[in-house]
Parts: sequence; structure tokens; C-alpha cells
Amino acid sequence: MSRASDKSDQAAPSAPENSGGPKHVAVIMDGNGRWAKARGMPRTLGHRAGVNALKRTVEAAPQFGLECLTVFGFSTENWRRPVAEVSELMGLVKLYVQTDLDRLAREGVRVRILGRRDGLPPDIQEIVERAEAKTAHNSNFLLQVAFNYGSRGDIVDAARKFAIQVRDGKADPADLDEAMFGSLLCTAKGPPVDLVIRTSGERRISNFLLWEAAYAEFVFQNVLWPDYGPEALSEAIEEFRRRERRFGGLDAHDVLAAG
Ligand code: IPE
Ligand code: IPE
Ligand code: MG
Repeated sequence: MSRASDKSDQAAPSAPENSGGPKHVAVIMDGNGRWAKARGMPRTLGHRAGVNALKRTVEAAPQFGLECLTVFGFSTENWRRPVAEVSELMGLVKLYVQTDLDRLAREGVRVRILGRRDGLPPDIQEIVERAEAKTAHNSNFLLQVAFNYGSRGDIVDAARKFAIQVRDGKADPADLDEAMFGSLLCTAKGPPVDLVIRTSGERRISNFLLWEAAYAEFVFQNVLWPDYGPEALSEAIEEFRRRERRFGGLDAHDVLAAG
């Protein structure tokens, strides 16, 4: 999904009307392992506490005027972790869906899973499909869970899809623009990303939403993910409100001064 719907790649993205707060917040939920280590506990308990933080945050998000929350749950690079930790993380998706899907569905939340599905174990594929199908008609709030997601991989997949369309005579390379390319990404159906939050004090993007965050604001918070909740989210949103988004243009004051 691209903020630019312009036909030309050269045209600047236009600034949306300023309603103040972010509508779409994306979160790199980091620090579960360190949270557990600080308590002398195994990392797996940090991940379990992380699920509770996710529940608190999802519940609070609409109260802050958010329409969409995208969370990074498992990266394509996270397969490098020990098998036991990977299987714990897979198990937690199952647990989250089993315990929360009915409530999410009742509250009008639409759930969408981002990432390479065919790389997931069959039982997890079945569970994510169930979560999507059960909430497909909801429109109060969109929860996107990036799971087995990597932004470079998603961009490569989009390029491959376009190449196949060209090969099959269904697309012309001359027609490719940012909007069309964005529509081939797995994030295409979500709104533009306004704010990316990363917890735990790390300041890197770790292959998350490289295309989509082109004009997002970034807020880095020191809180470890298992301690996250409405208060920390509120602080990040306040920080966002203090930012001035120019999208390559000038702020209103400078436009006036420039005459
Ligand atoms: C985030 O916490 C959860 C995932 C990446 C799945 P970490 O597990 O990365 O925690 P730290 O960074 O080791 O503290
Ligand atoms: C990014 O966190 C992935 C998720 C939060 C799911 P990592 O902890 O895996 O990232 P690095 O390894 O510190 O960059
Ligand atoms: Mg980490």
C-alpha cells in the first residue's frame, strides 16, 4: 500500500488532512527475552507475558482513535532461533487465537495475517485462516499480525507477481507505478502506516514494513514489550502528535514566509 496514488513515480505523496493522531500504528514488539532474563525466567515466559501485553494494547487501541494496529509477531529471520523457542512462539499464536478469537469477532475486529503463509506449519495455517474467515466481515478495527513476515521477502514476492502478470500478457511494465506495486504487497488492504513503534530500546527496523513506512513517524520506547499497555501507547501517540509531518513539502509557517 502506498500513500502515493499518483500516476507518476516522481510526484510527491500528498499529505493527508491532519486529524491529529495516528490512524494506523505498527509495532515491533521487542524485548520479551530481556524481560524474562531480568526475572531469572526462561525466554518462553517472556513471550507468554508478551501475549498479555498484546491483548492489553489491542483492547486499548480503538480508545486512542486508532483504526488499525499492525504487530510484528515473528520475522522470517526468527527461524534462526532455537527450535524450542520457535515452537513456543507458534504455540502462542494458537493460544491467542483460541482464547481471544471469539471476543475479537464479537467486538467487530477484523484479523488479518501478514507474511508467507506457506512457510508455516499446517496447523498454524489452518488457525490463521480460521481467524481471518471468522472476522472477515468486521469493520470496527483492523488487527494485522505479521507472522513469518519479512519486508524484503514481501517486496520480492510482489515483484514476482508482477513479472508473472507481464509474462502472461496481463500487465504492461509501462503501467507499473507506486500505487500498483503497493497493491501487490501483503499490506495492500490496510490503511497507510502513520507511526512505527519499537519497544526495548533497539533502534532498527529489522526488515519490517520497509516500503510502507516510507513516510511514517518512528517512536522508540525503552519499555520492554511484556510491560507494554495503554500508558506506553498513549505516550507514543503524544510523541507522534508533537511531530510535524511534511511529506517532503514545507510546514504551513514556512509556506507563508516563502510568500
Ligand atoms: C520479541 O522479543 C519477540 C520476538 C522477536 C518474537 P525478543 O524475543 O526479540 O526479545 P529480546 O530482544 O531477546 O529481549
Ligand atoms: C524483530 O525483533 C521481530 C519481531 C519483533 C517479531 P528481533 O528481536 O527479531 O530483531 P533483531 O534480531 O533484534 O533485529
Ligand atoms: Mg528482540
